[in-house]
Amino acid sequence: MTNRQLIIVGFMGSGKTTIAREVARRLNCVVIDLDDFITTSTGRSPAEIIQQNGEPGFREIETRLLDEVLRQNLAAIIAAGGGAWTIPENRRRISKVGAKTVWLDAPFELCWKRIQSNEEARPLAPSREAADQLYQNRRPVYELADLRITIADGESVDEVAARIVSLI
Ligand code: S3P
Repeated sequence: MTNRQLIIVGFMGSGKTTIAREVARRLNCVVIDLDDFITTSTGRSPAEIIQQNGEPGFREIETRLLDEVLRQNLAAIIAAGGGAWTIPENRRRISKVGAKTVWLDAPFELCWKRIQSNEEARPLAPSREAADQLYQNRRPVYELADLRITIADGESVDEVAARIVSLI
């Protein structure tokens, strides 16, 4: 990997955390899940922070902790939260450190299926309609990522991770 940090972006339920783990295993490098880092650093999950402080309060914390991760400059695969890449300030910081980004472009139906079946609370996707709207609004921003991996329903984690590794 020429860039030390690879950031996996994409909508909620696109598989960022799982894929990041497998890519890191294959490349023998560290994996950092930004949502987990937020939880351990603040003692609250992203969902709790959004519910208690509102989305702007969460984004402030997210930007600060993303910055902390980027500054560590570890050879790492970083799974971002679904909204992190949509914030211009975050994109600016990511590009400043020269990290590479990969968009997991998963179909809405697949993301929604996972959002629904997952125990993790997603306050920004309270209904199918709201999630779909957010998904559509964010697509043009996800497109700004360096690489795009189109994911088909039924594709295995191994297949997706292998494709990413072959591209970087
Ligand atoms: C969010 C996605 C979540 C989490 C927070 C906000 C978003 O992460 O960061 O609830 O704005 O899309 P996942 O994409 O891992 O669900």
